[in-house]
Amino acid sequence: MIRARVTGVGSALPKKILSNADLEKLVETSDEWITTRTGIRERRIVSPGEKFSDLCTLAAEAALKRAKVEANDVDMILVGTISGDMPFPATACLVQHNLGATRAAASDISAACVGFLYGLHFADGLIQSQKAERVLVIGGEILSRYVDWTDRSTCVLFGDGAGAVVLEASDEPGILSSHLHADGRHAAILNTPGHVCGGAVQGDPTLKMDGAAVFKLAVRVLEENAREALAANGLAISDVDAYVAHQANVRIISHVAKKLGIPDSRCVVTVDRHANTSAASVPLALDVAVRDGRVKRGDTVLLQGVGGGFTWGSVLLKY
Ligand code: ACO
Repeated sequence: MIRARVTGVGSALPKKILSNADLEKLVETSDEWITTRTGIRERRIVSPGEKFSDLCTLAAEAALKRAKVEANDVDMILVGTISGDMPFPATACLVQHNLGATRAAASDISAACVGFLYGLHFADGLIQSQKAERVLVIGGEILSRYVDWTDRSTCVLFGDGAGAVVLEASDEPGILSSHLHADGRHAAILNTPGHVCGGAVQGDPTLKMDGAAVFKLAVRVLEENAREALAANGLAISDVDAYVAHQANVRIISHVAKKLGIPDSRCVVTVDRHANTSAASVPLALDVAVRDGRVKRGDTVLLQGVGGGFTWGSVLLKY
């Protein structure tokens, strides 16, 4: 059976660090409030002129290098994002050009914080159906450009970044299954009613969120979804070597892990240094865990996300 196997992981972060202390100078907040309610200590923020597509390109280059795959051998580039450089063309096309991946088709995926996992799902389908042999999946976001920097209830939560994986057709185990969901009834609890085009504001482009409603829904659907993924593969919680969940809030991650019975030692947490990077959060956290040895070849890894739409889902894989 052909499997889609992760052969390289990479990530990229903007240089500028914005700490909780920096935020104390912008809005009425405190390091103590932010760390106890969210677990976030600092986040990276793009500087004026820094392009999102360049950040995605850096992450992709790192993943390709680690996979030892030439850009020209990539068949498809998928970018999960809701903050591309322009409404169109897709960021994936800009990345394709930057990489010189001339053979690759390229498209963006809009599923908010779950965009990267939707990308893995589509890539898995392309590889298993032999429509592609090598797919580059990127999750990236620069939500700092969409945040209302006068609204303390949201501006402290987000950061910028990009992560990427190379998936290749293989006889060895890779993605075991993916389980995606959406429920548009909850569109109003997390959205941006307007948008930014070429840096100009059209309508109200800043992010709006009912934090408590998101928290409640996220905890419920993540638990159900993890059980769905494990049951589909006849696996138990104890079979999961690493749990890499969307890094929105450390309290969401620990609530879900506790309900599932996943020990802290198996939960990858990077929200303290990255904050919520939306579609980038899972590949960024995966890259950190691969680099520091918490995710090793042969490990069973549960990736999970939840975000605006409402969207949620999981990808269970053998790394
Ligand atoms: N600093 C200081 N005080 C603040 C801040 C801040 N940055 N933000 C809100 N407050 C105040 C509020 O005004 C409120 O004050 P009041 O009691 O006088 O009215 C008080 O803190 C409590 O506010 P709550 O919203 O009830 O705080 P809560 O404990 O619910 O935490 C939070 C808010 C962190 C947003 C929480 O609801 C949450 O984590 N929700 C999940 C949503 C999330 O993570 N979203 C990220 C995007 S979605 C995604 O990626 C899935």
